[in-house]
Amino acid sequence: MTSSLTETHDFMAKVTFIPDNVTHEFEDGTPLIECCEEVDVSLTFGCTEGTCGICELTVVKGRENCSRFTEEEKDYLLPEDLEEGMRLGCQLKIRRGEVAITWKGNRAK
Ligand code: FES
Repeated sequence: MTSSLTETHDFMAKVTFIPDNVTHEFEDGTPLIECCEEVDVSLTFGCTEGTCGICELTVVKGRENCSRFTEEEKDYLLPEDLEEGMRLGCQLKIRRGEVAITWKGNRAK
């Protein structure tokens, strides 16, 4: 009698999109841009190559669970911004665990 009916995956990252009050689970290592395609959030993307800054956000929880800074992020953001948790969403992957992000409203309702 040891059968388990749980279908949850062991490796799921949980992302909270604070401005939209949405929390969703994704496979570990999912690029944030793919997460945003899966759920309906208001974070917008432009170039998707780390040069326009439209996707600028702040990781308020779980910075250690995010991918390392890319060269594009180091070029675009100031060192003090990086230290405060700012990232470019199009460059970011959620490695594992819990992450919470916020951003300035870039789409007027
Ligand atoms: S979409 Fe342009 S920097 Fe991320």
